[in-house]
This record gives sequence, C-alpha cells and structure tokens, in this order.
Amino acid sequence: MLSRRTLLKTLSLTPLARATAARAWPLRPSVLDGGARESLRTLAARRGVVFGSAAGSYQLGDSEFAAVLGREAGILVPEYELKRNLIEPSPGHYDFSGCETLVKFARNFGMGVRGHTLVWHASNPAWLPDAVQSRRDSSLMTDYIGTVMARFKNNIHSWDVVNEAIAPGDGRKDGLRNSFWLEAFGPAFIDDAFHAARAADPVAQLVYNDWGCEAGAPDNDRFRAATLSFLEQALARGVPIDALGLQGHLAAFGAKVDQTKLARFLDDVKAIGLRILVTEHDVDDTGGPSAADERDRAVADASRRFLDVVLANRATVAVLSWGLSDRFLHSPGLRQRLSGYSPRMLPLDAELNRKPMWHALAQSFAQA
Ligand code: XIL
Repeated sequence: MLSRRTLLKTLSLTPLARATAARAWPLRPSVLDGGARESLRTLAARRGVVFGSAAGSYQLGDSEFAAVLGREAGILVPEYELKRNLIEPSPGHYDFSGCETLVKFARNFGMGVRGHTLVWHASNPAWLPDAVQSRRDSSLMTDYIGTVMARFKNNIHSWDVVNEAIAPGDGRKDGLRNSFWLEAFGPAFIDDAFHAARAADPVAQLVYNDWGCEAGAPDNDRFRAATLSFLEQALARGVPIDALGLQGHLAAFGAKVDQTKLARFLDDVKAIGLRILVTEHDVDDTGGPSAADERDRAVADASRRFLDVVLANRATVAVLSWGLSDRFLHSPGLRQRLSGYSPRMLPLDAELNRKPMWHALAQSFAQA
C-alpha cells in the first residue's frame, strides 16, 4: 500500500494538487477543477462578499506577486502605510506616498481599499502622545481624521476610524483600554472620532475595529460583552458606527475558535444593525509540529472554523487576510530562524502556491 507521501512523489503532482491532496477534507470538484480559473476574489464575490488582503507598496515591485495579488484580492488594506507614524511623521507634515501607490494599484485592478487606521494607541509618531497629553486638544485627533479622509475621499471602501479601544483586562468598568487617547479625552474620544469621520465624509462606511471575540475563554467572554455593550450604547447616543471589524488573528495551536459563542456574538452585532468585516485574518502557526504539512493543515482548520461562522452571518460584507503570501513574513526571532522555522500563516506559500488555508477559505466562500 503506497503511503500518501510516496504516492504524491510518484505522481509528482503540481504544488497546487500536492497542497490539495495534503488537506484533511475532500474539496468539491468545482473548486478543485476551477483552481486555475477561480480565485478567492471570484469565490467571495459569488457569496456577495469582497475578499482581499493587507499589502505594502514595497511588495508591488515583485511583479510575480503583484499579478497574483491582482487575481486573488478584490480589496486591499495598507498594512502600515496609512498609519499615523508614516502619514504624519512630524506635526503638520504629511506623507501619503505609500498609501497612494497602493490606491493606484488597487484602481488598476478594480479593487477597493480599506482605510486603516485613523485613531489607534499604537503606530503613532513619537511627538503625538506628548502633544495630546500636554495640550489635551482634541483637534490633534479630529483635524487628522479630516485631513486624511479628505485626501482619500471616494477612494476608500471603509475606514477603521478607531482601532483596539476595548481591553477589559485594563480593569475599567466600561472595558475600555487605558490609552493616551482615553487618558487625555475620556471615553468620549471614540464618539468624537466617529463624528469627525462622518463630518469628513457623509457616506463613508465607518468601522470600529478590534480583536478578541473569536475564542471561548473568560477573557473572550468579557471582550464580547464589553464590545457589544459599547456598540449598543454608542449607537443609542447617535454615534455613526456602520460596522464592526473583527481582526481575526487566530492561533493554529492555541485557543480554538468557539463557534457557538462567536455565532451568538455576531448575531447580536447584526441585530443592532451593524455590518461585519473580517479585517486582518491570519493564523499563527508557532508552537506546533515542525512538519510544514501538519502546520498547514492546522492553519487551514482554524481558518475554516472561523470563516464558516462569520460567513454564515448575512451581515458579513468583507474578509481580508493580513497578507496574501508567506513570502513577506519573517521569522519572529533568531531561535525560530535557527530552528529553520518560517511562518506559514497565510493563504499562499512563499512560492505563491495555494496552501490548505487557501482551500479552506475557498470552501468557506463556496459553501456559505
Ligand atoms: C501591524 C503591522 O502588521 C505592522 O507592519 C505595523 O508596523 C504595525 O501594525 N492590529 C492591527 C494592525 O490593527 O494594524 C497591526 O498591524 C497588528 C495588530
């Protein structure tokens, strides 16, 4: 009896077929056969969802990758080139060049672009926290929102107006994160940010983006409760929030997605009138076996568990991975490099072959 590995070697299957054959569950022939024609962009669109990926303008110089990105993605989000440390390195000095390169590329391929992110406690220029805390002038936030949204008006699918403002572990009754924004302006900074965004663009989709709703631990329960309570109360105050962004950073060998709790949470989010986006999906594959095919399978299973639930909810309008190929991921540390580990967190491998995670996404879209 030939082992599967011997069989594959004997048949010298293409990388795509190898990845397919290594998967734990059968693919519907239509997706397998359509491999060359179908893409995550087309499969998602058939479900009425836009699929895309985070990208950096430096990646577009890799022509092989750029072509694959244009095929697989229907929307892009700047991984870092629309963050304030890149956009406003010094007060009043703006550099939009990186993001503009991505916007041009997206336009050439008929893609949308997400705006990530306007107000966050991280990736800020060093001068900003000091200025906010010394001057306590909320125009340091609202003027920035107005300037950046005006620059990209009519080019952005949806804006992550505020990112990661909820952290029950910080111990506040309202579950908000103790950031320099909150310390300077109080909880109302979130409302003010969304009102400033709405004033800058009356029709833009305004998103609250965060992470922590996927697993079933008590911390996740607290995050889901705090997020729902914040959203319900903000909407009741007339805060113009259109959608919730779930970052979707998962762990292949860590806490599993709790499908029941996640589904119930998403039903509650839909019930208060919000749309849902998966904004930064990837699956950390550290901590498991060293064999790449075993890691790939665990990554695919985690992704499938998550996407099946998210896509079952009709309020879901977009799914973006936090990168499309492992090619641009770098081992987090020397120990991993010495062990030969390289991250395999994304739908395509470093050679741009479709991995089991690609097929998991494809199956989720095809069967939603
Ligand atoms: C990270 C990017 O991957 C880095 O390239 C950048 O330097 C810092 O931000 N949550 C978020 C993302 O909302 O913006 C973060 O992305 C990852 C955590």
